[in-house]
Amino acid sequence: MPGTKSSSPVVTLAVMFSGDVNEGLLAQWYVVADAGDLAADPLAATVLGRSFVLWRDRDGAPTAATDRCPHREAPLSNGRVDQGCIVCPYHGWTFGADGACELIPSAGPSAPIPPAARLDTVAVRQQYGVIWLCPGEPAGEPPLIVEDADPTYHRWTAGMETWSASSTRMTDNFCDVAHFPYVHAGTIGADTDPVVDTVDIEELGDGFVGYRYSVDVLDEHGERIGQDMSTAFHLPFTVRSNTRYTSGPRSGQDRVLLLCTTPVDDNTSLFTFIVWRNHDRDVPADEVLAFDRAIGAEDKLMLETIPGALPLATGNDGTVSVKADRLSVRWRQGLRSLVQSAATPPAPLPADSPA
Ligand code: FES
Ligand SMILES: [Fe+2]
Repeated sequence: MPGTKSSSPVVTLAVMFSGDVNEGLLAQWYVVADAGDLAADPLAATVLGRSFVLWRDRDGAPTAATDRCPHREAPLSNGRVDQGCIVCPYHGWTFGADGACELIPSAGPSAPIPPAARLDTVAVRQQYGVIWLCPGEPAGEPPLIVEDADPTYHRWTAGMETWSASSTRMTDNFCDVAHFPYVHAGTIGADTDPVVDTVDIEELGDGFVGYRYSVDVLDEHGERIGQDMSTAFHLPFTVRSNTRYTSGPRSGQDRVLLLCTTPVDDNTSLFTFIVWRNHDRDVPADEVLAFDRAIGAEDKLMLETIPGALPLATGNDGTVSVKADRLSVRWRQGLRSLVQSAATPPAPLPADSPA
């Protein structure tokens, strides 16, 4: 009947990015810093509401631990690094990369160390020029980008940004091309056909799920160029965009863009991107990254106007999806599965529609 509301129940799934965080999310990898940011001084990073300190050990390898000294809970990230150890700024207790306390200055150098005087370390990797951290027990490794091992490719990292937006909104946006003519009217989207062709989702290898498509867009010089592309997500919050240029001066050449989003808390995220390409290797980094930075700034401006997390459940939750949203709907299903597989007992959810 017109005007009659559906009686199907509203089912919500709260995904917490702070407080009581789901184990499935804690078991994933998140980018917390550009590798160049982690030098002589310790760094602080918050992931899923948990505070960590990062530093480099004696061999230069990245190390991470809970940012809390077991003595009187001072943040170790305010301390300093001495010969690969982290030194607490409060009373100088000194911890090695394995988390064990090696020195309590007030007790003297030969005094026994209480066994509880140790840090909770977490897994960390330096990969693709950025630092990845897993706040829980790692379920795997960071996403594999095969081009990184190909010597014909060069890699650029963009550095870290903080967005006042939920990681769910950001990943949903990065899976979406229907916003290009609107949000990106100032960059790639000025001349883009708003109609989105059929989106056929497929496994694209290495844990990425996405779709292939061809598109004409404006490049950084305002030239219209053809591109064969794929856009794919890797759970929980990484999106990869592969481009093969089909016209213009780079015709036949390739580019990979990795968009990495890290939940700091429910409404704040870290964002960075990494570019690989097998052409124009000698172009200065700022020039390579400027256009993607401008595109990202357009997304940031939009997403920071939308409060809270994207609802993961569908039904009467207020979000409606159409065919162009197929990839983001599929990502949302994947995120639900990841969260539910680690939850006990799993919450029942309705199927997405209509994609
Ligand atoms: S609080 Fe760290 S040494 Fe006392
Ligand atoms: Fe965008």
